[in-house]
Amino acid sequence: MDINIFKNTDEIAEAFAKILFENLKKQENAPVHIALSGGSTPKTIFSYLSEKYGSELANDRFHFWWGDDRCVPPSHNDSNYKWANELWLKPIGIPQKNIHRVKGENEAEKEAVRYSEEIIKHVPLENGFPVFDIMLLGLGEDGHTASIFPNQMELLESDKICEVASHPITGQKRITLTGPVINNSNHIILLAVGEKKAAKVREVIVDQKKSLPAGNIMALNGKLTWLLDKFSAQKLY
Ligand code: 6PG
Repeated sequence: MDINIFKNTDEIAEAFAKILFENLKKQENAPVHIALSGGSTPKTIFSYLSEKYGSELANDRFHFWWGDDRCVPPSHNDSNYKWANELWLKPIGIPQKNIHRVKGENEAEKEAVRYSEEIIKHVPLENGFPVFDIMLLGLGEDGHTASIFPNQMELLESDKICEVASHPITGQKRITLTGPVINNSNHIILLAVGEKKAAKVREVIVDQKKSLPAGNIMALNGKLTWLLDKFSAQKLY
């Protein structure tokens, strides 16, 4: 595990861009499967990448997926796909065939199956699970990641690729990748900025709290990188 602490989200975006470019060098011509996180933190990063790198990152080998998305239509403000697409993928011209969104407008249980099948069709299997090249995850203030919440810890051990989750407060249904798929990734990136995340960052990294979903994220056969700012890292030392 490597922990990187930056001054601001621009520097974090540069670190993420570096990882993306490195992946292009790693495997000649092979697709690079990237699962994006949702929430607010990545929005600034997506905007920065779009403005700074534009079509330099519009590589046809990049395939974009979501670690989780809300069961809402793609035009809904809660849709993780909507923001990634509007702020980054569409402006830089990523072709539709490379964008694999969760179809939040579908019935949740059916979509969990459909999305799993789409993943199996495109993403190579290793250890019995799909292996994403890059798994970008956020960290909730309750220690959730993707849409694996503290009251749904069983999703960390699911034998499925995707499951239906529900937000513990709003009840909003989500489709989430499960723990074994997340932990099967080549490179897991845990993104957390702001002082509101500082307590959980410490509980996951220092206290290694397994009672928190994020405390069970480990790169079983790859790398785990934390991208933090000085506020979210303030309780680490
Ligand atoms: C989601 C996310 C979720 C998010 C964290 C952090 O769909 O909401 O995937 O796991 O990454 O809740 O969200 P913020 O960046 O908004 O704090």
